[in-house]
Amino acid sequence: MSTTNKTNKGQKRSVNQSSSPATTPSLLSNYKFWLASCLIIVVISFAIQRQTIDKTNKTATEKERLFTSDELRTYTKDELYLAILGHVFNVSSAPRFYSSTGGYKFYTGRDASRSFHTGKSTEEDLTDDLTGLNDEAVASVYDWLAFYQKQYPQIGKLIGRYFDANGAPTKHFQNVLVSVDHMKKKEEEKATFEQKWPPCNSEWSHDTGRRVWCTDKSGGVQRTWIGFPRRYFDSSLKTERCVCVQNSDKQDGRFKEYDNCLSTSNECRLPD
Ligand code: HEM
Ligand SMILES: *[C@@H]1O[C@H](CO)[C@@H](O)[C@H](O)[C@H]1NC(C)=O
Ligand SMILES: *[C@@H]1O[C@H](CO)[C@@H](O)[C@H](O)[C@H]1NC(C)=O
Repeated sequence: MSTTNKTNKGQKRSVNQSSSPATTPSLLSNYKFWLASCLIIVVISFAIQRQTIDKTNKTATEKERLFTSDELRTYTKDELYLAILGHVFNVSSAPRFYSSTGGYKFYTGRDASRSFHTGKSTEEDLTDDLTGLNDEAVASVYDWLAFYQKQYPQIGKLIGRYFDANGAPTKHFQNVLVSVDHMKKKEEEKATFEQKWPPCNSEWSHDTGRRVWCTDKSGGVQRTWIGFPRRYFDSSLKTERCVCVQNSDKQDGRFKEYDNCLSTSNECRLPD
């Protein structure tokens, strides 16, 4: 005990003795400087972190109120809420559509995602279940979600098919995004294809039957050439359609000539 005390005292004394009056204030101020710097850095980083957390929580509480379907069901009278793909919107500002006398009242108080595809309010369409719909149909529902996000305040999420009890997106919502992505890719591919092989004009009359023909803007594709109508079978859509091909594509096996039509004609008449 006494030895330790002695050593401590000795050390203290030696430190005190070694620091000359000239160097003590500079050492002390250095130490104060670093301490102050560290404190400031710590305080600032905490403040930034705090701000980020506050921001996240604010948007979370503003946009992430979680509804059960029973709760949502009550908002069809004074306050009008609807859900689409699990996103809840306040549509109270448009009673002409959504109040009990509005033409689209069947959308309120529930997630009737499927009926945004058909526009119908039949029992089988008043569901959030999109099972069996193709990518195009799913993407059309997603377009309505985008419409509501632009047009109305989003006030929360619906716990169920598209969001779990923590407000996290479910597998079903991920699948919707996958469908939307597929559709976007298909549309891009279609646009690229149509630049090269634009659709023909087409008309039908009782007297003359169907006629297909190419112009330098048929299919809405403005171009410097006109082209020749050809039958094209779209394997992804599993349908045949008429496209306009240039001379250089005449040997391309995907494009078949129409019966009884000159390969150099800009127009073909089809038998019924
Ligand atoms: C899939 C089919 C359809 C769906 C999902 C649908 C859905 C909707 C929705 C949600 C609104 C309200 C928009 C808003 O909140 O501002 C609306 C408005 C309207 N819809 Fe439809 N609709 C469909 C088909 C049709 C058809 C076929 C017609 C007409 C023949 C039509 C005529 C209208 C009209 C006139 C309005 C009001 C526009 C306005 O006054 O601003 N809709 N539709
Ligand atoms: C704020 O959000 C963080 C996570 O971002 C969470 O840990 C914390 O509990 C939230 N605080 C409040 C008051 O919601
Ligand atoms: C919903 O919208 C109505 C009318 O725009 C507004 O009076 C009401 O406060 C909104 N409710 C919520 C919860 O934001």
